[in-house]
Amino acid sequence: MGGLPRARPPLPTTSDRPIVVALPKGRVLDQAIDLFRRAGFRLSAVQEETRRLVHECGPLRVLVLRSGDVPTYVEYGAADVGVAGRDVLEEEERDLYEPLDLGIGACRMVLAEPADHPVDLASHMHLRVATKYPTVTRRYLEEHGVAAEIIRLSGSVELGPLTGLADRIVDLVETGETLRQNGLVEVETILQVTSRLVVNPASLKLRGQLVAALIDRLAAAVEARREL
Ligand code: PRP
Repeated sequence: MGGLPRARPPLPTTSDRPIVVALPKGRVLDQAIDLFRRAGFRLSAVQEETRRLVHECGPLRVLVLRSGDVPTYVEYGAADVGVAGRDVLEEEERDLYEPLDLGIGACRMVLAEPADHPVDLASHMHLRVATKYPTVTRRYLEEHGVAAEIIRLSGSVELGPLTGLADRIVDLVETGETLRQNGLVEVETILQVTSRLVVNPASLKLRGQLVAALIDRLAAAVEARREL
């Protein structure tokens, strides 16, 4: 069959509850569903009923969450496994097993500023940086010896410098179009981001065989996708 991995370890059958999978809504969702399809899991119901937040998909129960909430659900065991970007994982610093880079959702976290208002660090101005990622931003600024006030936003971060709220931003860049359309330019890449499979450590112990089979199938699908 086209696009499917050659060797797919069987998923052990169980009378137990399904494996609960937390997926992020937004642009990674379709890529994640496609990867699970390559691993032999049909999650098309997730795309058909877009307002529904829980989907029964055979051996998997899929939760569709805000991307930043995926690590929380997995850490507390409300989901056995999840798909989370490296951006979110670095920000949340949760205690999760991270067995697999899924290779989807590739983008970069960057420091950016207005093309016509570059920051002069030597001027000792009070610097304000707007971001959805205050922890990663704080760490980055400390490592670079830059003193700055971090302003936490929930979205549309690019608006910060346009309105005078902030001098710089730290945000994700995929195509670069949002930066460009808002007159911003990259100063530096902070993080290369892809989505990872994360696993609740207790689920791994208690549901080891099932979870391991899921990981193996996804690993084969990632490999097959890489070869395309
Ligand atoms: C993300 C990110 C940037 C944009 C980058 O935002 O925060 O704003 O995408 O993509 P581009 O480089 O391809 O233009 P998202 O669309 O997830 O919404 P948000 O700004 O509300 O977080």
